[in-house]
Amino acid sequence: MEMAARRCSKLFRRCFGQPPGWVVAAPGRVNLIGEHTDYNDGFVLPMAIERHVVLAGGRNFTREATLHSLTAGETASFSLRGKLGLGDPAWSNYIRGVVAGFQQRGWHIPGFNAVIDSTLPYGGGLASSAALEVAAATLLELIGGKPLDPVEKALLCQRAEHDFAGVPCGIMDQFASILGCQDQALLLDCRSRTATAVPLGDPSVTVLIINTHVRHRLAEGEYAKRRARCEEVAKALAVAALRDITLEDLDAARPRLEPVAFRRARHVITENGRTLRMAAALRASDWETVGEMMYASHDSLRTDYEVSCRELDAVVNIARSIGTGQGMIGCRMTGAGFGGCAVSLIRSEAALHITRKMAQAYEQETRDSASIFSSRPAAGARTLEADNDA
Ligand code: GLA
Repeated sequence: MEMAARRCSKLFRRCFGQPPGWVVAAPGRVNLIGEHTDYNDGFVLPMAIERHVVLAGGRNFTREATLHSLTAGETASFSLRGKLGLGDPAWSNYIRGVVAGFQQRGWHIPGFNAVIDSTLPYGGGLASSAALEVAAATLLELIGGKPLDPVEKALLCQRAEHDFAGVPCGIMDQFASILGCQDQALLLDCRSRTATAVPLGDPSVTVLIINTHVRHRLAEGEYAKRRARCEEVAKALAVAALRDITLEDLDAARPRLEPVAFRRARHVITENGRTLRMAAALRASDWETVGEMMYASHDSLRTDYEVSCRELDAVVNIARSIGTGQGMIGCRMTGAGFGGCAVSLIRSEAALHITRKMAQAYEQETRDSASIFSSRPAAGARTLEADNDA
């Protein structure tokens, strides 16, 4: 992150002829468990990771925003007069959406310049878009001279994703990027929007992220379909959200539901239970239960929710074959699915052996290569540099 911050600062000076007023960073996240539960008012257990979107920015005393993305190698400019709409390039929409959110709250956003860099793989299921939104919101708070309430900030960024990227996401990613804590996972209650820290600083356990680099094209449309299905079932059962029903309620309603709708809802209900059990197991260092919950979550996402794919299943099967005897605690797909990453908890002493074995077996199985890295739970969005004269 420090290197990305230096790169951003340097390029900012080169592009705009002065030092940036601020350099901010917002982390991506990996979700340990609680998948596709956030938009059902349920529970999720993500942690922020040590991969960030970094943004150097400052006022420019015009009514325009000029953004340069190092990752895309492109510049975007848009006027801040009047109502903001969608525009090109596509990545600029996340920032347009965030600016629009501030304007809707009555904030005056002056012209600004920014340079963006990232150490997060884009589109890999590690919440790179949420990190970009949160980084932009953090910069705008500094430019505006006052902070937003963290929950309100997460909601503003989520709205940007809905309205400017067309993805009806839940609140998990933005929340994790804002509220992340070093060495702690966050148990979020997505209904009350409250977070409880779950310690994850035991050095003998490592979080491993396995990026398949696969992105199946149906991902986005399927996400919206899953969400709509869940809302249909909640409506049919006359409750506000799937959070409000038990497996018994669902079983009783089975004759009235289409088989697919039944299975989608069953995933959500059982996943909420697994998330709470896994949080308790982490607190108790009960690694056997942690592993059991992770594998059960993956199976439910594969069969009931149908958001896994061949490559993610390959990773989880390899993890199973490595087994607890060789230091594997558990493994599951993470994020929206249809590609992206899997997350695994392992014994730290076995990290080298497991990484090698996973890489080799994955290549053998899929004829493709995965990137594997570890991350400790990281802190949420923050200011890295501030020029007092800005
Ligand atoms: C994406 C969304 C989140 C959440 C996950 C699935 O990451 O942005 O809100 O729904 O998928 O758990």
